[in-house]
Amino acid sequence: MQNSRTISAPTGKLGVLLPGMGAVATTFAAGVIASRKGLAHPTGSLTQTANIRLGKRTEHRSPKIRDFVPLASLDQLVFGGWDIYSDNMYQAALKAGVLERSMVESIREELENITPMKAVFDKRYAKNLEGENVKTHSEKWALIEELLTDIENFKNTNGCDRLVMVWCGSTEIYHEAQEVHSSLAKFEEGLRTNDPDIAPSMMYAYAALKSGVPFAMGAPNLCLDIPALEELALLTNTPIAGKDFKTGQTLMKTIVAPGLRARALGVRGWFSTNILGNRDGLVLDAPENFKTKEVSKGNVLDGILNGEQNPELWGDIHHKVRIEYYPPLGDNKEGWDNIDIFGWMGYQMQIKINFLCRDSILAAPIVLDLALFLDLAKRAELAGIQEWLSFYWKAPQTLPELEPIHDLFKQLEKLENTLRYLMGEELITNLGMDYYQSVEEDIRY
Ligand SMILES: NC(=O)c1ccc[n+]([C@@H]2O[C@H](COP(=O)([O-])OP(=O)(O)OC[C@H]3O[C@@H](n4cnc5c(N)ncnc54)[C@H](O)[C@@H]3O)[C@@H](O)[C@H]2O)c1
Repeated sequence: MQNSRTISAPTGKLGVLLPGMGAVATTFAAGVIASRKGLAHPTGSLTQTANIRLGKRTEHRSPKIRDFVPLASLDQLVFGGWDIYSDNMYQAALKAGVLERSMVESIREELENITPMKAVFDKRYAKNLEGENVKTHSEKWALIEELLTDIENFKNTNGCDRLVMVWCGSTEIYHEAQEVHSSLAKFEEGLRTNDPDIAPSMMYAYAALKSGVPFAMGAPNLCLDIPALEELALLTNTPIAGKDFKTGQTLMKTIVAPGLRARALGVRGWFSTNILGNRDGLVLDAPENFKTKEVSKGNVLDGILNGEQNPELWGDIHHKVRIEYYPPLGDNKEGWDNIDIFGWMGYQMQIKINFLCRDSILAAPIVLDLALFLDLAKRAELAGIQEWLSFYWKAPQTLPELEPIHDLFKQLEKLENTLRYLMGEELITNLGMDYYQSVEEDIRY
């Protein structure tokens, strides 16, 4: 056993604030409420269902993660948030059409009680959206003050002990980091002078971090990954993690690509197309918003099949990603992958994947795990970028000098070892030579 960190107990209520109360946010909250009532099972959530191996294989210790680390329980969660539409979560869940009506009706009262606060919104950042539940100040600094008050009021009204914030809002347009994002001082100056390069999601993140509330960025937005907000997170001892929930096609990519790399198979091309019909798809139908997603999805393969390290196998991969908005599919996304690979003596082969997935069903457990793990990180006094949560992201945030790890299995190892480290358990390397050494010694001596 190593020394464990001091982690304060998860007492009292944990408020989960959600900027954006659409398909993902409502599916998440509904799932937690239904699980609490014994109406559903939180499948896909590591914090609720996964085991973690501890110690040597001969010890046979594999508790549930939730029994190993001190996490808030589902009963302790309270939900709130903001949206540009005034629908409560019951109405929003029905409109999103992810869950069956009978399930939504069975938790109607709880969902109806979750109503969105007025949003900070700027149409330039989400061209295809038009909503009425929006704050009216035109000054960015005044909007920040309103957000800070919203956070404080939510905490007091609901008697929360702690809060976390997970962005489940729409994907904003593609834009690159500017001078105003380069330091906290410049960013705050930009808020006072209404700098147009400060996006709404950055304002929520700023207000959260200023209040010491951990923040996760579920969309591919440029937000937490700017020096100004990284600085603020460290100054206020607040954990941050992003970005872009890893669901559907990218999840499959980070499962399949490590396998190809492991067997040293070559890859010539990887064509991925998604067809989806939810509001997320509508937002992504605007080219400026699609570009943000495209960039976030695009880097995943390079990180796993490194063409610079191994040009013969992966030096010339034609990687193409498309997203098509097709309303009849609703939230039931279809992902097609055509992978052109080659093996022994250069002989060509193909893999075809047709994943009929449900986007929000895959994203909801990620929201839950991030909320609980970020709260754990805060109580364990971890601040700034939480790279151990890369497991959940299409574009994991790291220090600028580090390449992100995309391989799902390495990400899981990192996550599990972080939990072991926090609890003072031995890290697991899977070397396993010691088992054989002791057998050898028994025979020899
Ligand atoms: N579902 C997935 O598998 C998945 C995976 C990765 C990322 N994401 C991202 O998660 C986000 C949510 O996805 P979704 O399917 O729930 O989308 P959605 O369109 O159903 O919900 C997004 C909500 O955000 C609201 N919104 C937009 N701008 C806002 C603002 N400034 N303030 C407050 N609310 C705002 C919209 O009105 C909408 O209700 C999207 O950005 C999406 O790209 C989803």
